[in-house]
Amino acid sequence: MKSIRHSLWTLLLMLCATAAFAQPTQTATKATTPKLDVPYVPTPQAVVDAMLKLANVTEKDVLYDLGCGDGRIVVTAAKEYGANATGFDINPERIKEANANAKKADVTDKVRFVEGDLFKVDYRPATVVTLYLLPTVNMKLRPMLLEQLKPGTRIVSHAFDMGDWEPEETQVVDGSTIYLWTVPEKKSPAKGR
Ligand SMILES: C[S@@+](CC[C@H](N)C(=O)[O-])C[C@H]1O[C@@H](n2cnc3c(N)ncnc32)[C@H](O)[C@@H]1O
Repeated sequence: MKSIRHSLWTLLLMLCATAAFAQPTQTATKATTPKLDVPYVPTPQAVVDAMLKLANVTEKDVLYDLGCGDGRIVVTAAKEYGANATGFDINPERIKEANANAKKADVTDKVRFVEGDLFKVDYRPATVVTLYLLPTVNMKLRPMLLEQLKPGTRIVSHAFDMGDWEPEETQVVDGSTIYLWTVPEKKSPAKGR
């Protein structure tokens, strides 16, 4: 798990360093490059398989992968479990790759890839949410997910937890930790006197 965390943090530091030392002549390119909250590091396929198994994904599920990269979680959910799945990514290059991968796997009727900011997604239709982000991003997402997702919705995260929200299950797969939470029933408002 440490090596996965390390690779994400190293990539993040490299991105920051590159931004800090960028030449002014790169301004035109930068204007068209989306600002990433998380660098692109794909989840190994064995970990993808374990995440979907841990979430107990079925053909009845609507899976959302927030920051979907090349679409491997979405494509696998559709191909192996028959789920309807949507991936969101702010980087148009990733969306292009994800659509190509869906075509290759012959699951274009079950999947959708949306270019956009994961913080602006309407999460309500999801019954399973998958994440491979960063601790700060998970923590920012947590209240939004808890507010919008239906009770019973499963959330699975690769490598990073949700602070003091205890996972109901964790597994270590090929050195990576994966976490599972289920959205609880909403607390009913306190009755007036
Ligand atoms: C660590 S990768 C995970 C990719 C994929 N979910 C997987 O597990 O293989 C994080 C992804 O989040 C995307 N991303 C970063 N910031 C984002 C944002 N604000 N909104 C949507 N996607 C974002 C990146 O482009 C990258 O593809």
